[in-house]
Amino acid sequence: MRAVVLVGGFGTRLRPLTCARPKQMLPIVNRPMIEHVVGHLTDHGIDDVVLSLGFLPDVFREAYPQGRCAGAQLHYAVEPEPLDTAGAIRFAALDAGIDERFLVLNGDVLTDLDITRFVEVHDRAGAEGTIALHKVADPSRYGVVPTDGDGRVLEFVEKPAPGTAPTDLINAGTYVLEPSVLDRIAAGRRVSVEREVFPAMVADRRLYAVDGDTYWIDTGTPQEYIQAQLDLTEGLRGEPVDGVADDARIDADAQVRRSVVGPGAVVGAGARVEGAVLLSGADIGRGAVVEGSVVGHDARIGAGARVVGCSVVGDGEVVAPDATLDGVRQPADCP
Ligand code: GDD
Ligand code: MG
Repeated sequence: MRAVVLVGGFGTRLRPLTCARPKQMLPIVNRPMIEHVVGHLTDHGIDDVVLSLGFLPDVFREAYPQGRCAGAQLHYAVEPEPLDTAGAIRFAALDAGIDERFLVLNGDVLTDLDITRFVEVHDRAGAEGTIALHKVADPSRYGVVPTDGDGRVLEFVEKPAPGTAPTDLINAGTYVLEPSVLDRIAAGRRVSVEREVFPAMVADRRLYAVDGDTYWIDTGTPQEYIQAQLDLTEGLRGEPVDGVADDARIDADAQVRRSVVGPGAVVGAGARVEGAVLLSGADIGRGAVVEGSVVGHDARIGAGARVVGCSVVGDGEVVAPDATLDGVRQPADCP
């Protein structure tokens, strides 16, 4: 079975971290997100992966010049312009010559979904498409997917207004699709799978869904980008992973708790880093505090500064000594 992984979005909610690279090339505990996603596929025997690229495709091509990634062979499908989710699926599937049922993944989701069982459910139902679901507290940020007792999708509501969602089961961003779905997607324009294609399949009673009932997170916001990594270091997904890179330099008088510290990062004397992610080469000055925030590659936090409240400091940025960043993005947007 082949898989299409959507990695062509702009990563707007993670700016400025995504100014120079797609979000799926950001590290998750010091390893690019895409390697976690593709590694999960190879764990289920899927080693032929089509990357649906749009924004900054060369960052992927340069990282995996032979097209080998986490045990899989990659096919690069580069959109001439952003085609939105369904347009991207169609373009990638045709580009790669897919003509059998295939898997589609939102490339910013980390999950322990049992893909093998998921595909079996699709085959047994004889569905044209099957969506994996996940239960969340606030469905309004996702696609909401009520089903009947047989798993048939009754409605697909993308990002309903808060308080109006018909169920708390949401689209987990993993689909099995029959190739006939490609015929439903118009060529040469933006088409959303969530707003256009899935509602049409619901009307034809051909779309099914099943609760994946396992670990799941969409890493697309700073808060969830941090959370996805703390979940690994705190052992929510099996054995806890060590979040501190071997060559990070943490002063004996610094406190680092529940955090990820990238290769070559430095934490000075008296500094406190808590619930934070420091990317490679980040430098935290003496007595500085970084809490619940992300510090980009080679960024420098001056002595005594406070970076708190889900702040995001971009690559190479400098925060002045004793400055406070509370819920701030520095810079506010890409140059
Ligand atoms: N190639 C390509 N082209 N990829 C794209 C494009 C495009 O034009 N637009 C978005 N993508 C990719 C993104 O890079 C991401 O991996 C995936 O498609 C989903 O886009 P997001 O921007 O992350 O969507 P979302 O998180 O707001 O909502 C989606 O995911 C939720 C679950 O995580 C929807 O599918 C929701 O229904 C779903 O609940
Ligand atoms: Mg997302």
